[in-house]
Amino acid sequence: MVTTDSVVAWLHKLDDIYTENKSYLTELDSAIGDADHGINMARGFSKVTEALEQQPPKDIGAACKTVSMTLIKTVGGASGPLYGTFFLKGSMQTVGKTELDAPGLLELFAAGVDGVVARGKAVLEDKTMVDAWLPAIEAMRAAVDKGITPMLAAGVEAAEQGMKATVALVARKGRASYLGERSKDHQDPGATSTYLMLKAASETLAR
Ligand SMILES: Nc1ncnc2c1ncn2[C@@H]1O[C@H](COP(=O)(O)OP(=O)(O)O)[C@@H](O)[C@H]1O
Ligand SMILES: [Mg+2]
Repeated sequence: MVTTDSVVAWLHKLDDIYTENKSYLTELDSAIGDADHGINMARGFSKVTEALEQQPPKDIGAACKTVSMTLIKTVGGASGPLYGTFFLKGSMQTVGKTELDAPGLLELFAAGVDGVVARGKAVLEDKTMVDAWLPAIEAMRAAVDKGITPMLAAGVEAAEQGMKATVALVARKGRASYLGERSKDHQDPGATSTYLMLKAASETLAR
């Protein structure tokens, strides 16, 4: 079972991971964007840590809600509202819940990704975070009966493949789309932060 404490551990891990990968994500964004993705993610999740410490969440829905509000408030650009929406929709799936089994955790992720797609209107192969999210959800759905650990492992593997596949794509959404063909041969920063988010989940939520 995933508990409120393990979700909080995941969120703290995201603060560490985005701090460690701040330059990497910003470098990716400097090639096809405005060189702020690492800064955005690191700032957002360090504020998430502060918010969770100020007001320890009583359940998983409350934790996700805090993340959502914090990201929307502190992260500008495309990624703040998109990840903010992910956690807002995730919080709506988990209101009052202190435990999630594999199907419950899948619902959190799937609702979050539906929110990202509804808000950003990106489809597969637009070279965005959606290229990591959608294959991950599909892989997790296929592995949900095996339990939380194998399900998350399948999600991480699919997200990594989706992230790598963005290299060959021409961007059709977000800032990178302004570059047209020149956006090719670069890995999408948002697909990379999504892969890192799932990798951190598999390291903290797996049981
Ligand atoms: N419409 C969209 N749908 C999904 N993801 C998007 C969309 N637009 C941009 N992104 C993601 O946001 C990432 C860029 O985030 P960031 O650099 O923080 O914001 P900005 O582009 O405003 O500077 C991109 O790499 C892409 O993955
Ligand atoms: Mg940017």
